[in-house]
This record gives sequence, C-alpha cells and structure tokens, in this order.
Amino acid sequence: MAQVTLNRLTKHFDDTPVVKGISLTVADGEFFSLLGPSGCGKTTILRMIAGFIFPTSGTVLFDDQDVTHVPANRRNTGMVFQNYALFPHMTVFENVAFGLRTRKVAAAETADRVARALDLVGLAGLEQRPVPQLSGGQQQRVALARAVVIEPDLLLLDEPLSNLDAKLREETRDQIRELQTKLGITAIYVTHDQEEALAVSDRIAVMEEGECRQLDRPDAIYRRPANRFVASFMGNMNLWEGVLTTDGGRTVFRHASGLAVALSAPAGTASSVSLPAPADKSAPADESAPADESASAEDSAPAGTVYLALHPQAARLTDEDTEGTVAGVVSTRRFKGATVEFTIDAGGVSIQVVENAEGPLAGRQPGDAVRVRIPGDQAIILED
Ligand SMILES: Nc1ncnc2c1ncn2[C@@H]1O[C@H](COP(=O)(O)OP(=O)(O)OP(=O)(O)O)[C@@H](O)[C@H]1O
Ligand SMILES: [Mg+2]
Repeated sequence: MAQVTLNRLTKHFDDTPVVKGISLTVADGEFFSLLGPSGCGKTTILRMIAGFIFPTSGTVLFDDQDVTHVPANRRNTGMVFQNYALFPHMTVFENVAFGLRTRKVAAAETADRVARALDLVGLAGLEQRPVPQLSGGQQQRVALARAVVIEPDLLLLDEPLSNLDAKLREETRDQIRELQTKLGITAIYVTHDQEEALAVSDRIAVMEEGECRQLDRPDAIYRRPANRFVASFMGNMNLWEGVLTTDGGRTVFRHASGLAVALSAPAGTASSVSLPAPADKSAPADESAPADESASAEDSAPAGTVYLALHPQAARLTDEDTEGTVAGVVSTRRFKGATVEFTIDAGGVSIQVVENAEGPLAGRQPGDAVRVRIPGDQAIILED
C-alpha cells in the first residue's frame, strides 16, 4: 500500500530538461496513467519513481517517507519494462522467481508464490517453458507475474502492451486492471495510447515536453480538455481558431471562414458554456490558475483568439437547412464497421463527423452535398 507524491520533480540530461517540475499525488490503490507522445518524459518519471535514476531536483515520497535518493532495490516496487526485459535463457519459473531469490526467500515459499503469480496471470502449467517458446502476449504476462510476485507496494508499468497486437492488447489491458484491483495495489501506467489510458485509469496526467498539461479523471479529460494539446491528443477532435462575439444576447464563436457557432449560454455567462474551470487545469499547486478572462469580458468586446473543440461524434450530418447547421461537401469517407468517419469541406473549414453506420446519411459519398449540425452546447472553448 502506498501513496506516491512527486514534488516539483525535475530531470536534466546534459543540461537539457526533460522533466520540468512535475507535482502530483497518486492515491493509495489508484490506477494512475502518464499519457503523452514519444519523448515527453514518461519513462524518465517512472524510472525516478522506481529509483533507477535520481532527479536533478524535487522529491519523491512514498506515503510520508522521502525516497528520492533510495536505490531501486530498497523501494519494493514491481516494474514491467517497455520491452519487458525477460531473461531469455531462463524458464518461466526462473524468470518469475528471480526477484524472490535475490530477496533470499526460501525455496518452498518461492515455489508457492511463483505458482500463485502465474495463476493470477493465467499461465499456470507453463513453469518449465523456456521464454523464447512463448508468444508475445505470454511473455508480457510473465513480465507482469515477475513484477507482482514480490508483492510490491507499487506497480510501475511502462507501455507494457506496446509489443502486442490490437486484440491481445485490449485483453491484456483489462487483465492488468483486474489484477491491480484484485491485489489492491497502487499502479502507475505509462502509455502514449489515449484509448488505453481512458479505458483503464482512475486518473490520467496528460504530458507534453516534460510538463503536465492536464490531470483529471478520464471522462473529464475527454469531455473537457483543458487546452488544444490535450484536445488534439484525445482522438480526432475538430479544433478551429476564431473569436467570441455576442449576437442577440448569445455568445457566438466565429471562424475566419464565416462559420459561426452559437454557444448555448447567454452572453456574460460564457464560462458556463464550456470554458474549462480552473480546477480542471493541471497547474501544479504552487502555480496560481490563470484568470478566466472571458467569463468577465464585456458583452460588446470580442475576446482574443480562442479555439473551439468539438468531438466528431457530436457533429451530425443532416439534410435540414435549419439554425445550427452549415452547408458542405463530403471530401472523404472512411467506413470503420460500426461507424463511418466523414470529412466535410464547409467552405474553408474542414469538419470531422463520425456517424453511426446505420444512420440515414451514413451512405453519403465524396462529392455529395450535405449539411452538418454543430451543437453549440457541446462545443468546448479553449484559450490556449
Ligand atoms: N539517459 C539519457 N540520456 C540523455 N537523454 C535521455 C536519456 N534518457 C532519456 N533521454 C531523453 O529524454 C527525453 C524523454 O525520454 P523518455 O524516455 O522519458 O520519453 P518517453 O515519454 O518515455 O518516450 P517513449 O514514448 O518514446 O518511450 C527524450 O528526449 C530522450 O531522448
Ligand atoms: Mg518511454
């Protein structure tokens, strides 16, 4: 059992900062993900938590204990590495038993605990199999058994599914979450795959270039990304630049192409529409949240540049020429099975739309004229 706290954690390699003052707390028993693109510092953070490398500045606490400079072998963490790093010349049993042998656990107890760990990951019976004779998914589960057999306080998983095919990835992902819940241990999971993070995490920190750009529950990050970076990382979101104006008492987003989206709330309460609340931002506790300027903006003055984000599932194809719709032409159509993804060219603005494949307009083809309904109440206005 462990709560993990990072305080202004920083890491430089040859004077280049790759982790830039990360502050966050992972609760005891929580499944916490670090999500971000390649090179943003995820593995570096995990290695500092594990104790394989030490920070340039800042601290790591396990519960109330400062472990910043405690070496890895004295931290009781189980780690599954990005390339799973099994010993290829050893059997499954020997791989899983390794951590117990280095801890001088007696032979009978070792056999017992290895059997239980292999049972947990569904590999009972494969004890004597040499590692090279396992499939990728089985090797992945050996790595997992090896990490949990020591009964760690903390399970660290570095892209543990990256070498598996799509179906096995989903299965193993769910098994990892089940296992973590069953064991009741804290887990920190590193991935660059937003779907994976959304599916398994209690909370997610979205990282960019060594900084945390948003920290929240999966549904909150998906529905209310705090900035363009997070929005663009959450799938194929529409993201348009424009300004906010007021028209007949309503706040309207205007794109340079002429596209206008009336947001649902009356003017003067723009923040209730979709501006991210300061609490949703990932700013570390020591940074004060920036003032929400547009919430107090005068009705008449157009605010500065803002960005409208809209999930493609929220946009809808329609034939009705009514308020809230815009005319366009299908430019691409991608059939995905249950859904169809469209790109609609609406006179200078490109709109991504995901339709249910059974929907009445899902058969529209490139070149067809169509209208798109843009629900203003589901638009998210971002300031950076
Ligand atoms: N030992 C090192 N010496 C110098 N630079 C390093 C070292 N380890 C990592 N880096 C650099 O630090 C940055 C962050 O690396 P890190 O491995 O933490 O990224 P990551 O988010 O895990 O990426 P990926 O998703 O590709 O695994 C990268 O630019 C990387 O080249
Ligand atoms: Mg990495």
